[in-house]
Amino acid sequence: MDSFVKVEAYLKEVEETILSHEEEIEAFRIKYLGTKNILKSVFEEIRQVPNEQKKAFGQLCNAVKTAAETKFYEAKSKIDQAKLNQFEKIDLTAPSIPNLLGSRHPVSLIMEEMVQIFEKLGFAVEEEREIEDDWHNFTALGTPEDHPARDMQDTFYLKNSVERLLRTHTSPVQVRTMKAQEPPIRMIAPGRVYRNETISARSHCQFHQIEGLYIAEGVSFADLRQTLSHFASEMFGATQIRLRPSYFPFTEPSAEMDVYLGLETERDQRLTKGTGWLEVLGCGMVDPVVLSQCGIDPEKYTGFAFGIGVERIALFRYQIDDIRLFFENDTRFLRQFRASHTF
Ligand code: PHE
Repeated sequence: MDSFVKVEAYLKEVEETILSHEEEIEAFRIKYLGTKNILKSVFEEIRQVPNEQKKAFGQLCNAVKTAAETKFYEAKSKIDQAKLNQFEKIDLTAPSIPNLLGSRHPVSLIMEEMVQIFEKLGFAVEEEREIEDDWHNFTALGTPEDHPARDMQDTFYLKNSVERLLRTHTSPVQVRTMKAQEPPIRMIAPGRVYRNETISARSHCQFHQIEGLYIAEGVSFADLRQTLSHFASEMFGATQIRLRPSYFPFTEPSAEMDVYLGLETERDQRLTKGTGWLEVLGCGMVDPVVLSQCGIDPEKYTGFAFGIGVERIALFRYQIDDIRLFFENDTRFLRQFRASHTF
């Protein structure tokens, strides 16, 4: 009889329990529905119950179990729903999570601007390898072995090779293009070049150039000057350029071009060494020897070439005083170039 009283008490307890917190629900589950729940021991008592009451006792026990299950699932689903509702509370007025945009590298921005200027003049973009061979980088460009001009550029050679090297300028693209195409040729080649130089605020062992080449019948030095002067006015708004006589082994005559940028800021002073003139490129008429080495008839065709240093112009344009910043990939530096890049 005791057993009946006990189970009836459980039933009452189950019916009266109020489950509102997660911990209460869990404790309730363990007590009535867990693997060691209190009903189990009660079920075992069924042996002592007289036969004629066994059925009623069994039903009572089941009633407790069913009541406990119902109570548990109702409470559980209520609390799960409450949790879900919490997630669905979306504040439409909240500011959005900032979407971080990547930024263009200042050197890419400047190169793109230059490429566009020349594309409008009908120059086609050629891209070539950075690992070159000795012939394309030097020999074909009028610099045979033992030529003193090879000392002008400190070259990185590939391990165990005197043949393969990192190109020291974009001029080998001239060679490859002349060998592959028939004149008229009008191309530019933007790209990275390497020189074994001590890294400092002013020079680096890697930098960028844009090579230009125009080969056709009757191309003259006046055409070169006109093209470069157009470039300078588009790029810098510069009214003054000057061509100084210079030397390159693959052009004759050769020149270097400066643009007048003035001396407005302290950086202008430093970049132009106090003169107001910034040296931006090397150029010249393609040497007839180079033309014939590349399979072009120098009797029929003439041409000009130029090579622009990109970083120097980027330093000036963005008023940056250390070239190393371009290669460190510090996002605090790079993200400043997200906005427009007009002069
Ligand atoms: N390749 C030369 C340099 O890197 C620049 C140049 C290019 C000069 C084309 C003349 C013609 O110094």
